[in-house]
Amino acid sequence: MRKLLFGLLPLAFFACTSSSEETSETADQTMTQEQKYAEDAHSYSEPNSAVVKHLDLDLYVNFEIKKIKGIATYKIETSEGATQIVFDTWKLDVGMVKDGQGNELEFEMGEYDPTFGSPLIVNLGENTKEVSITYMTNPEAKALQWLSPEQTAGKAMPFLFTQSQAILARSWVPCQDSPGIRFTYTANVQVSKGMLALMSAVNPQEKSEDGKYRFTMEQPIPSYLMAMAVGDIEFAPIGDRTGVYAEPSMLEASAYEFDEMDEMLVAAEELYGAYVWERYDLIVLPPSFPFGGMENPRLTFCTPTIIAGDRSLTALVAHELAHSWSGNLVTNATWDDFWLNEGFTVYFERRIMEAVYGREYSEMLAELGMQDVKGTVDRLGHEHGDTHLKLDLDGRDPDEGLTDIAYEKGYFFLRTIEEAVGREKFDAFLKGYFNENAFEVMDTEGFLTILNEKLLVTEELQNAVNVKAWVYGPGLPESFPDVNSSRFDAVESAAEKWIGGTPADELNTAEWTTHEWLHFLRNLPNELNTEKLAELDNAFGFTNSGNNEILAAWFQHTIRNGYTAADPAVEAFLISVGRRKFLTPTYEALIEADPSKEKARAIYAKARPNYHAVSTGTMDALLDWNSENS
Ligand code: BES
Ligand code: ZN
Repeated sequence: MRKLLFGLLPLAFFACTSSSEETSETADQTMTQEQKYAEDAHSYSEPNSAVVKHLDLDLYVNFEIKKIKGIATYKIETSEGATQIVFDTWKLDVGMVKDGQGNELEFEMGEYDPTFGSPLIVNLGENTKEVSITYMTNPEAKALQWLSPEQTAGKAMPFLFTQSQAILARSWVPCQDSPGIRFTYTANVQVSKGMLALMSAVNPQEKSEDGKYRFTMEQPIPSYLMAMAVGDIEFAPIGDRTGVYAEPSMLEASAYEFDEMDEMLVAAEELYGAYVWERYDLIVLPPSFPFGGMENPRLTFCTPTIIAGDRSLTALVAHELAHSWSGNLVTNATWDDFWLNEGFTVYFERRIMEAVYGREYSEMLAELGMQDVKGTVDRLGHEHGDTHLKLDLDGRDPDEGLTDIAYEKGYFFLRTIEEAVGREKFDAFLKGYFNENAFEVMDTEGFLTILNEKLLVTEELQNAVNVKAWVYGPGLPESFPDVNSSRFDAVESAAEKWIGGTPADELNTAEWTTHEWLHFLRNLPNELNTEKLAELDNAFGFTNSGNNEILAAWFQHTIRNGYTAADPAVEAFLISVGRRKFLTPTYEALIEADPSKEKARAIYAKARPNYHAVSTGTMDALLDWNSENS
């Protein structure tokens, strides 16, 4: 939608246009301003002409009609001769647009596209510095999930949460919805009395008397990191800078599960420099949250499915925390560069896990990641374009192309570089990278330039790594590193013994963590008869496991092999959990077992009302579901 200018610019350019104060209206800098932003195929905005710098939001959250009424007031910067500013919207009802003096500005809504929404084109006066948009969201807004009291843990109050990444922010705030455009924000939010509102900003720790809340986010962030949650929410501190929010009945278990947050934060800072967002809190959302976690600045959103009671799934916290550097500080320029956000974050996550729990532990996570990425490459096809690190998502919903290639191929690419240059050099490089590019955007080419200048300085190193094959080539390159977790070796031999006839309850599993169990389940043969599955279930209680990762891995076997004893648990799982990562493989297994899709669709009919639009988007396609069915 915009013309590509970004890739042509020298890197030094970015270092001198960092914060909003530095942009002024002199002729020279206006020119620079014109060329600053990358083309983003997923946004209608034209920031090289007119760009937002600061947002003041006034929001009124109405649960009865499932709408947010808002006024979004933007401070903007324009290049010489600009006559318009363009915002992204998705089914927003725009009432009025005014300038800073209260004069009405003419506006026009462009053509609607189901994925990208409509451009809101506002005509600017000669000196317009402020644009104020009065609007209302649509009940179908894709970023918003409105939960009834029955869909929450406490069953007493409704709940609302947002999910803006990748291009859903435009469905709750008119914005320039491109990861390369950063702005600061404040918000006044009015909710019903008795509810707490939270945002990706400085947050309250207690409910107010009147349901009014005030938020500020002083560091500039892209629109995909705007977030809000409203409900019967309480706070429990963990350390001085950390804490957890949850519904009251979930608070104690959440505080227990995430007790190591502070240690993780310290470990992260020791690795790659100071945490710049002051506080790091986490909110545990109701189970319909479609992702595991979302790195909203100052307030990670997370699924309750990682509360296992034994702190075994907290790598997710390390992951979202790591995004405070990779992603939130140095941000992918467009969704084609998504691996710069996620691959770096998985690398950083595993380094935090290694620092806190040891190398043996983090190697288990790496080996599971390796299995994941090999599975994804097999599924997509080894030559498929979506297996490149640098993606080409033009014209597509980015959500469709954002697979675990970015995460795990990205991770193994960085690990390959680490192994080639040595950890000490790599750590110094990464620390410098985050520091020098803080609050900036980065595209793949920009990163590769820095990498070649600073780290891969000899031909020998360049050949050892083979950057081109990793970044622009399909599948997994030859230099893919070897992971061999010693703890998994023991699991493999236990699995072999069982297959060879040793009874399940005689296997030596007493010391196993969740990760060993997952490896065990992934290592079982695809075909197992009912007796064999019953033997495992009796020995290890998989069907009744309180651990959602184990349940999901187990159901792969029970569904495919017709072990009907687990069917009620499968159904209960699909009805209560809305996390897409679990839904997709579970429904796929149901379809494989019954290609008429009848069984899968019968469960989906009951479960669908509990799912977020992100999940129904994927499942509707999988199950040939259309609106007539609902
Ligand atoms: N930023 C992602 C979630 C995301 C990605 C939302 C793309 C929308 C579009 C988040 O950091 C993430 O990666 N979450 C993972 C968990 C993680 C431990 C791999 C998830 O939700 O499963
Ligand atoms: Zn992530």
